[in-house]
Amino acid sequence: MSGFTTLAVPGPTNMPFRVRQAMDVALEDHRAPDFPAFTLPLLADLKKIFRTTTGHVLVFPGSGTGGWEAAIGNTLSPGDGVLIAVFGQFSLLWCDLCRRFGLDVKEIEVEWGKGVPLDLYEQALAADQAHKIKAVLVCHNETSTGVTSDVAAVRGMLDRLKHPALLMVDGVSSIAAIDFRMEEWGVDLAVCGSQKGFMMPTGLTILGISPKALEAKKSARLPKCFFDFDDQLKANKDGYFPYTPAATLLRGLRASIDMLLEEGLDNIAQRHRRLAEGARRAVAAWDLQLCAKGPEWYSDTVSAVVVPTGFDANDVIKTAYNRYSLSLGLGQNKVNGRVFRIGHLGYLNEVMVLAALGGVEMALKDVGIPIKPGAGVGAAVSYYSGHKLK
Ligand SMILES: Cc1ncc(COP(=O)(O)O)c(C=O)c1O
Repeated sequence: MSGFTTLAVPGPTNMPFRVRQAMDVALEDHRAPDFPAFTLPLLADLKKIFRTTTGHVLVFPGSGTGGWEAAIGNTLSPGDGVLIAVFGQFSLLWCDLCRRFGLDVKEIEVEWGKGVPLDLYEQALAADQAHKIKAVLVCHNETSTGVTSDVAAVRGMLDRLKHPALLMVDGVSSIAAIDFRMEEWGVDLAVCGSQKGFMMPTGLTILGISPKALEAKKSARLPKCFFDFDDQLKANKDGYFPYTPAATLLRGLRASIDMLLEEGLDNIAQRHRRLAEGARRAVAAWDLQLCAKGPEWYSDTVSAVVVPTGFDANDVIKTAYNRYSLSLGLGQNKVNGRVFRIGHLGYLNEVMVLAALGGVEMALKDVGIPIKPGAGVGAAVSYYSGHKLK
C-alpha cells in the first residue's frame, strides 16, 4: 500500500527527521577525549526536562521496564514494604516486578479506568506507624487505560503524614509530554524511556534520581550490577559511562532535547492538552465512552476508547491497520477486546491527529459500529480550527 503508515499508538511515537538525521553518524569511540564535551551538557540538559536541579538524571541502555528495575534495585532491600495501586497493565507489571524482587508489596486494586486512590494511599500510609513502607509507587500516566494520576497530591500526603517513604513515579508516557515536575513534586525516582515523549527509538531508559534516593541507596541490599547508580554516576562525572553506551541513540537524544527545550515544556504540555481534547471531542461525537472514568483521570497522551457491547475492539484495530495503514493501540489484559487506544503523544500536530481520527472513523464504520461519518473528525475540526498551536 502506498503512503505512510499512520502511527497512532502511545509509543513508539513519530520520530522527527531532525532526530533521525542526528543519528545518521559513523559509530564513535565512547572513550575518546572529546566525548565528554558531548555528554556533559547532554546530562545537564536532561535535568531541565525532568525539572530537577538537585537531582541527577542517568541514561542506561534499556527500556522503561529496565527503569522500574533500576529504581527498585538501587534503593530497596529484600522484604521492604512498597505501596502500589494497580489500575492497568503497566502498574500491574511494575507491581509484579516488585514481587519478583522479594519486596513486601501492599497492592491496592483499583477499577481500570481510575487512577491512584488518594484516600486509600492515605489510609495505608497513616496506618504504617512503623514506616515499613519504604517506597510509594505511582504510575503517573497509565498508558493502557489513558489515565493520569495526581503525583503532587501524593507528595502532599507524604509530607502531611511525615512519612519518609521514597516517592517513585513511572513517567514513561508522561515525561517530556505532559506536565511533570520532579523537584517541585518531591519525586525521588522518575522512570522514563526514549520511545515516547522523547520521540526516539526504543533503547534508552532515562531515570531521575533525587538526593534522598541516593542516600537510600547506601543501605539498599537488593542486587544490581548493570543498573548500579554509583557506577554510572562515577563515570558520568567525567562524561563517560561504565560500559559501552548507546552512543548513536545519545546523538538522537541530543536532538530530541534541543527540540523539547526550543518548544518549551509548558508549550509541549499545552499542545498535548489541545490535541487530546480534540480526540476526546471526537470520541464523544461518536457516542462512545473513554475507559477513563472521569475528566479528573483524562490522559493528554492517550485515549482508550471503549467499543459498544457486542463488538470486538480488536476488529477495529485490525481493520484500521489492514485497510487504512493506521496503527492503533491494543487493549491489554482485562480490557483486551473492549478498548482500542489512540495515541496523541510526541511529535505531532492537529492534522496528524485528524488523520488518525479519520482512520478510526472508517474502521468503526466498517466493523458496523453505528457512527455518523465525519462526526468525530468534524468535532475535532471545530475544536482545532481557528487556533494556532505555538
Ligand atoms: C506507563 C508505562 N510504563 C512502563 C512501560 C514499559 O516500558 P517499556 O515497554 O519501554 O519497557 C510502558 C510501555 O509502554 C508504559 O506505557
